[in-house]
Amino acid sequence: MKIISRGCQLGWLLVTGCLLCGGASAAPASVPPVSYGVEADTFHPVKEQHGMVSSVDALATRVGVDILKQGGNAVDAAVAVGFALAVTHPQAGNLGGGGFMLLRTAAGRTTTIDFREMAPAGASRDMFLDKQGNADSKLSLTSHLASGTPGTVAGFALAVQKYGTLPLARLLEPAIRLARDGFVINDALANDLKTYGKEVLLSHPASKAIFFKADGTPYQKGERLVQKNLARSLQLIAEQGAAAFYQGKIADEIAAEMAAHGGLISKADLTAYRAVERQPVSGTYHGYELFSMPPPSSGGIHIVQILNILENFDLAKMGFGSADAIQVMAEAEKYAYADRSEYLGDPDFVKVPWQALTSKAYAKSLAQQIDLQQARPSSAIKPGNLAPYESNQTTHFSVVDQRGNAVAVTYTLNTNFGSGIVAGNSGILMNNQMDDFSAKPGTPNVYGLVGGDANAIQPAKRPLSSMSPTIVVKEGKAWLVTGSPGGSRIITTVLQMVVNSIDFGMNVAEATNAPRFHHQWLPDQLRVEKGFSPDTLRLLESRGQHVQVEAAMGSTQSIMIAPDGTLYGASDPRSPGALTAGY
Ligand code: DON
Repeated sequence: MKIISRGCQLGWLLVTGCLLCGGASAAPASVPPVSYGVEADTFHPVKEQHGMVSSVDALATRVGVDILKQGGNAVDAAVAVGFALAVTHPQAGNLGGGGFMLLRTAAGRTTTIDFREMAPAGASRDMFLDKQGNADSKLSLTSHLASGTPGTVAGFALAVQKYGTLPLARLLEPAIRLARDGFVINDALANDLKTYGKEVLLSHPASKAIFFKADGTPYQKGERLVQKNLARSLQLIAEQGAAAFYQGKIADEIAAEMAAHGGLISKADLTAYRAVERQPVSGTYHGYELFSMPPPSSGGIHIVQILNILENFDLAKMGFGSADAIQVMAEAEKYAYADRSEYLGDPDFVKVPWQALTSKAYAKSLAQQIDLQQARPSSAIKPGNLAPYESNQTTHFSVVDQRGNAVAVTYTLNTNFGSGIVAGNSGILMNNQMDDFSAKPGTPNVYGLVGGDANAIQPAKRPLSSMSPTIVVKEGKAWLVTGSPGGSRIITTVLQMVVNSIDFGMNVAEATNAPRFHHQWLPDQLRVEKGFSPDTLRLLESRGQHVQVEAAMGSTQSIMIAPDGTLYGASDPRSPGALTAGY
């Protein structure tokens, strides 16, 4: 069954602007005052005065803080952090992947840079189907075909050229040093090398040579990881700019690697790659403005859509962790993820009904269908399949500088260490972002997400993403800068940061640490972290939710800015090794 009634609603909204739905109506708001943290709070944010960086890796955070101290702005610091993470957090930090940057200038301008990977020219709709016509996830995740043309280097170069103040080469210096001289491996990297590295890196000699010792065991906590080839590639970019990656020696390495092993990325694909500046998605919520990533991310649209639905309820009165609040949020999430599967794709290829999806009127019509006492089964909306979940292997970082500029970046190789393939002698791990396309309508990708035509593979198209770098604005000034990894769970994780901060009055550390839950329509499961009351979960079951307790979801790295400019930050305790720091 299709989402006929809802699809029609949306179509009708597009045409009529939903005359009958009435105007926006915010809930009777018992929204509490904002909290920046008081002594009585259980969890406390990091507090600083001038500048702050929140990232998943302490070494990278320190790189960013140094740049800020030396007078670089938030874009400079973000780019330096991004390059450093490509060295110290190879699970997700990258040169061979892609992502998104959201930027709010102190002057109040908000913009985004889309450096998502693009399908190579040789890509085709059915390239991941086997002879029986079934999607083969090995091809889309671990083969040379898994990689889209990387965007990170172009994205960072564009960001610095348009909004930075320091030369790109200067911002590469710390990363070059970390790669050339090595750094001491922390628990998080050691664990991921042991668990995932073996699966994806060991079978590729160039990858094995970097991350594994001569005896075939991965580097361990406390040992030094030196990446000479990666240092050379970074040095080339410092000397020649992004051209080194897209036209020069690194392009040669990538194209040769692909040609030798049945991959598609050619030198022409690399030369043709462009990072693009796009207008952010925006919305309002209880008097706040929210900016987030537009398509090819689905994140911004669906965060705004869900918040618009939630505005019709009094979440604050229901209370954090109450069965009522979780029920409303889970139901709203189902509607959003159903729309995602139908309407979202690369805006350069498909017309995304952006205005309708983010309209208050459409949200109100959905809100009216939510029954607090009885969950609507996902099967009554559209049939689906179960799919496995992966761990948090994208990465987000947030930066705020002394002038009040705010930057949120989420970028990734997709799953842990991407395809596991290092391109020739470049030291650069390649992404497996092609799995984010819909390989076959209705067949779930690694995050259990389904899609159709809008997200089908086409040459030069960008796969649909959930990455949602987000900035909430209060009275015209950046207030909350946040984002997360987590595949499909990114959208709901960022949503909960916003709701916890606004509706439940939590300080940024409490909002981060609070247990999370997630519903993505298909599979029909309400996934919850440990920490919710068993009584609440029983109540939710009795209201028709299929509750499943899951491992940690997401890893937010957030900064909240008080009206007096004081910075409050929090790294997610779900990621050991993460650090928020400033000066
Ligand atoms: O763009 C996306 O939505 C995914 N490739 C993000 C992957 C991710 O968050 C991995 N962590 N679980």
